Amino acid sequence: MADEYDGTTEPTATGRGVSRKTLLKAALVAVPLPALLGGVALARDHRPADAPLTPTPACDDGDDPTPPQTEGPYFKPHSPQRASLLEPGTRGTRLTVSGFVFGLTCRPVAHALLDFWQADDAGAYDNRGFRMRGHQYTDANGAFTLTTIVPGLYPGRTRHLHVKVQEPGGPVLTTQLYFPGEPRNNTDPLFNPALLMQVRQAGPAKQGTFDFVVGRR
Ligand SMILES: [Fe+2]
Repeated sequence: MADEYDGTTEPTATGRGVSRKTLLKAALVAVPLPALLGGVALARDHRPADAPLTPTPACDDGDDPTPPQTEGPYFKPHSPQRASLLEPGTRGTRLTVSGFVFGLTCRPVAHALLDFWQADDAGAYDNRGFRMRGHQYTDANGAFTLTTIVPGLYPGRTRHLHVKVQEPGGPVLTTQLYFPGEPRNNTDPLFNPALLMQVRQAGPAKQGTFDFVVGRR
């Protein structure tokens, strides 16, 4: 079973998608590239008609893999498989987090495992059961979406989500995701701006995005 990793694998340093992967992502979600590029054509549009495309573009934009972070004391293995952590009666501001998992060559990783856990609206972890815990897998395009709530604050930490990410057969990346504009981002020693989600308000809910880059260097 793919969820039987034990979390003890040494996490490999990993990074965040920016320019090159933004383009790849745009292609994946069928956003017109010229619009994204402000009318600048891609180099491949000017290739000779019979020239082959590079099958897997190299990650040449200097991106580093997503940085690992401490697991903390509240991880539990064997979370239920579910993309939504919402249950009847779940309180809190609704949040979706979506993005992609990429390998170090900028290739989207299908069927990558993402295991999320977080505090509830009151800042508490469920250490008896599996509230606010769940794992899921990326789709064929390497995409994922988590449906949850904005985690509550608890002493000593800024607002964050915990996650383990693993491409099939690869090392486990254990890390955390952060929210922009949080006052405690300035005082939490674990906070890393490389792990900030992009978050926008959507009516009463929030929509976050983050791309993971996993794999061995
Ligand atoms: Fe935590």
